[in-house]
Amino acid sequence: MSGQSGAALPGRTGLLRRVFTYTRPYRARFWLSVTLAFVLAAAAPVRPLLIDHTLEDVLGGGGGAAEAVITLLWRITALQLLILAVETGLRFLFAYLTSWMGQSVVRDLREQVYRRVLSFNLRQFDTTPIGTLTTRTVNDIEAVNDIFSEGLVPILADMLSIAAILAAMAWTDWRLTLVCLVPFPLLLAGTWLFKESVNRSFHRVRNAVAALNAFVQEHLTGMAVIQAFGREDREADRFDAINRDHRDANIRAILAYSVFFPFVEIVLACSMGLLVWYAARASYGLPAAAAAGVTGDIVSFILLLNLLFRPLRVIADKFNVLQMGVVAAERVFRVLDNPDTARDTGRQACRDARGEVHFENVGFAYVEGHPVLRDVSFHVAPGETLAVVGDTGSGKSTIVGLITRMYERDSGCIRFDGRDVREYRLDELRRQVGVVLQDVFLFSGSLLDNITLRDPSIRREQVEEAARHIGMHEFILRLPGGYDFAVGERGATLSLGQRQLVSFIRAVLYRPALLILDEATSSVDPESEALIRQATEALISGRTSIVVAHRLSTIRRAHRILVMEKGEVVETGTHAELLARAGRYARLHALQSADAPAPGER
Ligand SMILES: Nc1ncnc2c1ncn2[C@@H]1O[C@H](COP(=O)(O)OP(=O)(O)OP(=O)(O)O)[C@@H](O)[C@H]1O
Ligand SMILES: [Mg+2]
Repeated sequence: MSGQSGAALPGRTGLLRRVFTYTRPYRARFWLSVTLAFVLAAAAPVRPLLIDHTLEDVLGGGGGAAEAVITLLWRITALQLLILAVETGLRFLFAYLTSWMGQSVVRDLREQVYRRVLSFNLRQFDTTPIGTLTTRTVNDIEAVNDIFSEGLVPILADMLSIAAILAAMAWTDWRLTLVCLVPFPLLLAGTWLFKESVNRSFHRVRNAVAALNAFVQEHLTGMAVIQAFGREDREADRFDAINRDHRDANIRAILAYSVFFPFVEIVLACSMGLLVWYAARASYGLPAAAAAGVTGDIVSFILLLNLLFRPLRVIADKFNVLQMGVVAAERVFRVLDNPDTARDTGRQACRDARGEVHFENVGFAYVEGHPVLRDVSFHVAPGETLAVVGDTGSGKSTIVGLITRMYERDSGCIRFDGRDVREYRLDELRRQVGVVLQDVFLFSGSLLDNITLRDPSIRREQVEEAARHIGMHEFILRLPGGYDFAVGERGATLSLGQRQLVSFIRAVLYRPALLILDEATSSVDPESEALIRQATEALISGRTSIVVAHRLSTIRRAHRILVMEKGEVVETGTHAELLARAGRYARLHALQSADAPAPGER
């Protein structure tokens, strides 16, 4: 997590403005909520003033006959009820609108962020922890919601209310108002301290949550390692430490709240005490009518003070929420502004390709300054099978990733059917190339869903036919549920070899012009081995293919073999040619033949 502090961010207003551009589709509702803020502020002091009027002019003054006074009282009560009803209705509408706005903006923003993440170059996922991206698309965006539901417009509404109530107080009696405001500097100082303290704690809470997320996510994924090496206790201790930090940060925040709210009550009580003391002193010895006027003022002032403190209690908190929302928005926008997306600038369509591949002096590095491929050149003619062999880490998988532009080459040229791969539209290019990755990832769901990737245009019969074609139909029927076999998360319910077989079917289904098979390095049981060999043969025969091969059977079948060492091509030729050369390949072959279980079998 990039846990930068929320303080002193440049361009805070710029950020807010950008957040507010997301309200554009909902402009009418947005302005309605702003209007409501004004209306509610203006309505706030009306009822207390009406009470003041009742006490002062109706009861205290020459109200006239008793009957007339009672009628008037009834009218005033009805009016009070009406105002209360309207005010409550408008308040509900206001809260609903601001929350609705927040949720709508969040939905739009989240969709945009997720689409952006989908289009990222794979390089981004090598350098950004998955947990961070999850936090961006889930938690941070949630905080943006608060900008609307508790942030700017509600703060505006609160400030307007405060102003309206103060104005009403001053209009009623400016001396009493000043008396009430005497404890206010105390309140301002307390509010400031509270805001700072809560802000600090929340930053700690958020960092602790991120740390918890990252820890849990990584350790659940690596659970097998932890259990196999008996690290449960030690990892549990580390978890405890992070968890304790989370608790402490939260408790600090709670502490600030539990000190602040009673403190506000004390200030309110002081204000009221001063008010009563001052007014009682001033009215002492006045005639009855004038004293009733003072009583009316006191009552309305107490009501107004209560109203005044309502927004004062929460406004500091709202500022915190706003600030956190803005910091979260900044992080979210950083994802949106990340320019490292797959550049789909090619316009060339790609249909009925033959699958020819040219590598011309290709160079590539995952991390700048550490080249993984150097000056790699080769050619695969249509219909030909090229086997790529070499030590682990020599760059074999990297080669196949560059063809479909999972990563962008740094130098040289890669041609597909005679054209630079960058000239094709990315989706069209990738549709022509079927890839069986070395490390197959399966999504949780049925086997069928994993084969079709939930493409509804692919029928079950087609899948079965493809499976028969590579000799896998029986194997699948033996699984519980057959094609509806439930694949666990990350494909955990299948072995590595089985998972690769599943993606074989996927590759056949899409009838690619070029097939890329990156054989899994792990050894498998003899039965699966036979199945995989048979499937591989069915897969590559008659199709242009590049096979990163570990099985001698596959290597021997290839038209040509490319031997890689430390990112460079060290030998090319047919099996026989390379054996005759008695070089790198011949040594590899000798080693592997010694391992082979049944001579002649491989
Ligand atoms: N995503 C990545 N980010 C950074 N470096 C990487 C990444 N993927 C691979 N590498 C590095 O690039 C080099 C070549 O890796 P590559 O996966 O192409 O090897 P390989 O020949 O396929 O090996 P294996 O036979 O084990 O599959 C290795 O040194 C590896 O550490
Ligand atoms: Mg590899």
